[in-house]
Amino acid sequence: LPVSIFKNPKEASLSVANRIASLIKEKQQQNQNAVLGLATGATPVAVYAELVRLHQEEGLSFKNVITFNLDEYYPMQPNSVQSYVHFMNENLFNHIDIDKSNVHIPDGTLSLEEIPAFCLNYEKKIESVGGLDIQILGIGRTGHIGFNEPGSAPNSGTRLVTLDDLTRRDAARDFGGKSNVPTKAITMGIGTIFKAKEIILMAWNRKKAAIIKKAVEGEISSEVPATYLQLSENVEFILDQDAALDLT
Ligand code: F6R
Repeated sequence: LPVSIFKNPKEASLSVANRIASLIKEKQQQNQNAVLGLATGATPVAVYAELVRLHQEEGLSFKNVITFNLDEYYPMQPNSVQSYVHFMNENLFNHIDIDKSNVHIPDGTLSLEEIPAFCLNYEKKIESVGGLDIQILGIGRTGHIGFNEPGSAPNSGTRLVTLDDLTRRDAARDFGGKSNVPTKAITMGIGTIFKAKEIILMAWNRKKAAIIKKAVEGEISSEVPATYLQLSENVEFILDQDAALDLT
């Protein structure tokens, strides 16, 4: 499994942002769209900041970019400060020239009955634009990618899932207490992520060292969904020194 270790999160983030920017420019030259799978959370914040800088200071255009976010809490109103819609607007979309009709984020406002059709359609939309060129991932301390918690099947698609207790604890601060964290989310599946032409998993901080060791060196198991990535030929782990600390 290819693992790259950087001195700090900043340098790692710059390298990921540059790869995304290169893909966008390459596709522009071919008059094609770049299809990006995006993550939220603390991990990709500096990647998005650098993409914003590249737009504002170096003229990188996102006119040919189509995005699909991994997940959204359920239920969740898009205008809530905890929504991933809000996160993406604040960290990226409000500061670049992307066409908002090219932005896709799972809809936290659907009724339970509407969710299966929405999820199938999310998969179809990804396929209809040629699939994800690049998917960026963080990793949760449960080993989740997207919100594919322990127990997730390797061929899972976009669906409604129940969040692990540890995931809700880790989100408690954002919500002012664990009891305010939604118990569910809509997430791309492991199977959805696997279809991406390129997958980049990023992790920083000592808090991630133990789960990174399991993900990279552990036995492949649904108990640590990120271990499935060992089966992919298109994946790369981008780590800072702290997250890589337990690797042998
Ligand atoms: C977010 C997502 C999650 C996070 C993971 C790590 O869209 O899908 O898998 O990437 O929970 O979160 P942070 O980066 O906040 O440590």
